[in-house]
Amino acid sequence: MDVKQPNKILLEVNGLKKYFSTGGGMLKKKQQVKAVDDMTFTVKEGETLGIVGESGCGKSTMGRTLLRLQHPTAGEVIYNGQDIAKLKNKDLRKLRKDIQIIFQDPFGSLNPRMTVGAMLSEIVRTHDIVSKKEEKKYLEELLLEVGLTPAAYWKYPHEFSGGQRQRVSIARALAVQPKLIICDEAVSALDVSVQAQVLNLLQHLKKKHGLTYIFISHDLSVVKHISDRVGVMYLGKLVELSDKHDLYERPAHPYTQALFSAIPDITEEKQERIVLKGDVPSPLHIPSGCRFHTRCPLATDKCVEEAPVFEQVRDGHYAACHYAE
Ligand SMILES: Nc1ncnc2c1ncn2[C@@H]1O[C@H](COP(=O)(O)OP(=O)(O)O)[C@@H](O)[C@H]1O
Ligand code: SF4
Ligand SMILES: [Mg+2]
Repeated sequence: MDVKQPNKILLEVNGLKKYFSTGGGMLKKKQQVKAVDDMTFTVKEGETLGIVGESGCGKSTMGRTLLRLQHPTAGEVIYNGQDIAKLKNKDLRKLRKDIQIIFQDPFGSLNPRMTVGAMLSEIVRTHDIVSKKEEKKYLEELLLEVGLTPAAYWKYPHEFSGGQRQRVSIARALAVQPKLIICDEAVSALDVSVQAQVLNLLQHLKKKHGLTYIFISHDLSVVKHISDRVGVMYLGKLVELSDKHDLYERPAHPYTQALFSAIPDITEEKQERIVLKGDVPSPLHIPSGCRFHTRCPLATDKCVEEAPVFEQVRDGHYAACHYAE
């Protein structure tokens, strides 16, 4: 797909699908939620790939499927030349070390009955990161690195503020020396000033450790701040993917244009605001043809019948719209 790739590809995602079966019973037929419905993209080593889209469009499902916390329904996720769906034992363990995930709500993902030290110690032992002798020093340095004090080692999750707790999650992800970190709404629950601090920390750590990020958020300005490239999702699909600057300056897809026109930006001339009709359709009933046609201001008969192909509209800029430029 991407023809010119100056950087090494870390992760290759081909036709990824994740469907859930719901309902089903005496009278009801089982239905399929097409949460992720045929996504193809690559993640380059050292980049931050932002993924944006409204709530419910499948961002978290995509993130969890990449890590194989959920098994893909179809498609491939190639990491280190291997399809993650086929990994077993040792290789799956290596994947779980190399790819880490940070969630929005660290309360949900940190064990409330374990001190930070005990939790970090468990994870570095599981993955055999340092010798027992060096462990304490390693973990104290790690805590300093994420902006906490070594005293955090003895504390429980509830003893921290929201921002500090997110730093603990970052320390946990970093502890196993990963290659890729998936940040799923990692700063969405934080106050704006704390958000900026955590974003700066993530950027600093990325540079220092040569990390790669997939940064998932519904917040367009947060994604704009941190990403190198950005993919826009709508109802389980990527509708646009491009270098950040080109995407924010010249969005090619009507959905992206509508999303961006709704960002309040006091520094720019008042732009024409495109208001989307109606609500996001349910992933149980995905519209025919272009799945955005029920809300698209430019929809034609062709859009109702024929799904547009996700293709390059400019150098490195992809969109799925019959009329993208
Ligand atoms: N385990 C599940 N079972 C059934 N439906 C699910 C499950 N997980 C997510 N979904 C549905 O898949 C869609 C995408 O959800 P999600 O990936 O959480 O979106 P986002 O992170 O973009 O808000 C939603 O309609 C959600 O209700
Ligand atoms: S293909 Fe048609 S409905 Fe879909 S985004 Fe383009 S113009 Fe709108
Ligand atoms: Mg989510």
